[in-house]
Amino acid sequence: MPAFDAAPVSRAEPLAALFGPHLAGLCQRTATALEACGHAALLVHSGSLLPVFQDDRTYPFEANAPFKVWSPLDVPDCFIHFEPGRRPRLLFHSPTDYWYKVAALPQDYWTAHFEIVSCPDLAAARAALPRDLAHTAYLGEDFADLANWGVGARNPARLMRHLDFHRALKSPYELACLRTANRMGVRGHQAAERVFNAGGSEFDIALAFLAACGQREQELPYNPIVALNENAAVLHYQMLERQRPEPSRSLLIDAGAEFGGYASDITRTYTAEAGDFAALIGRMDALQQALCAQVRAGVDWREVHLQAHRLVAQVLREADLIGCGVEEALASGVTQVFLPHGIGHLLGLEVHDAGGFMRAPDGGDIERPEGHPYLRLTRTLEAGFVVTMEPGLYFIEPLLAAARADGRGRLIHWPRVEALRPFGGIRIEDDLAVTVTGCENLTRGAFLSESAAR
Ligand code: GLY
Ligand code: MN
Ligand code: MN
Repeated sequence: MPAFDAAPVSRAEPLAALFGPHLAGLCQRTATALEACGHAALLVHSGSLLPVFQDDRTYPFEANAPFKVWSPLDVPDCFIHFEPGRRPRLLFHSPTDYWYKVAALPQDYWTAHFEIVSCPDLAAARAALPRDLAHTAYLGEDFADLANWGVGARNPARLMRHLDFHRALKSPYELACLRTANRMGVRGHQAAERVFNAGGSEFDIALAFLAACGQREQELPYNPIVALNENAAVLHYQMLERQRPEPSRSLLIDAGAEFGGYASDITRTYTAEAGDFAALIGRMDALQQALCAQVRAGVDWREVHLQAHRLVAQVLREADLIGCGVEEALASGVTQVFLPHGIGHLLGLEVHDAGGFMRAPDGGDIERPEGHPYLRLTRTLEAGFVVTMEPGLYFIEPLLAAARADGRGRLIHWPRVEALRPFGGIRIEDDLAVTVTGCENLTRGAFLSESAAR
């Protein structure tokens, strides 16, 4: 495991040593994919600025993941050009502009591995490329002049599948970035817990998260979910109330940070009251740890998801939320009322990373288990995958109403549900790096090291 000093979290030395092998591996697998799919070279666009309708402003920029795997740059209209056997080239967009500050030509731990060409505009980028791009595959959105560039294929599906399939396997460099993203995110979570305990509103908690992980919202891998009380029952809650509710019973915060283009995705649930909801958080934490203990190379992720439902059925029974045994709970589908999302997903350059269903680059997709439409990962785990483990248990009004209306309602102890519904729900989410014998819990490791550093 590479040593990583993150106090303060910084672009530390080990990255320089890890980036070269990462890039060498990326070049090799890209060359193999290009050959298998009949392309001679690859051209990847970082992305275009998206204008706001009827204004001359743009939305915050986010580089495309197929570009970010090459370079942590977050600058629009840059290109990576890769011809197997040659040093990759970065065409760096460097316009003359007095309205906006233009990013300086990059000089960082990764730049020595590229031939970098400064391009004031797209025409200069085209001029810096070979005249004939007829055998080059392009990855990215269309832009105005792309049709005249003469690229042989735009976003060819087969090549993209080959590249996405291998993205699931993280290099030591990528794991180092993911560790740092976890440490940054954990600093945010620790601050969020403090502000919750001090009586802060959702808005106050979100600002504390940002300040502590040292990022503005547009730098995060996804918009934080900061939900007090019943709001925790909304899976992707985005409101951020400015007023503290009275009483403020519980906090569910799902928020991560980004480092080098790589995301952390972390959820914690807290309550201010001792009692049944606190006990339920304790049970869900133990359940989550039991699931983490099952993770190792060779495990079918669909089985982990189904096992999560089995364990949730036990928790529902022990907490007296249902009146039936585990087998009847599973057969009836009542666990889906309380846990309606997938148990986890691939994590990396995207928070829900690409390639979660692929049997093989050309091998079709692996179906989800029947009746589990929201599972985002069906592959068998390999050493080097990074996944989230995120069991939950929620009191979601429309799902409870649907259960009441069908046969499942008779299995539910409604007075218990009514007592716990004001707390919203629970989710506990960690990021796991899969190994041959188990996994490294990047999130719990970060909580330990950040607590020790305080
Ligand atoms: N934060 C989104 C998720 O947990 O999948
Ligand atoms: Mn997640
Ligand atoms: Mn999450």
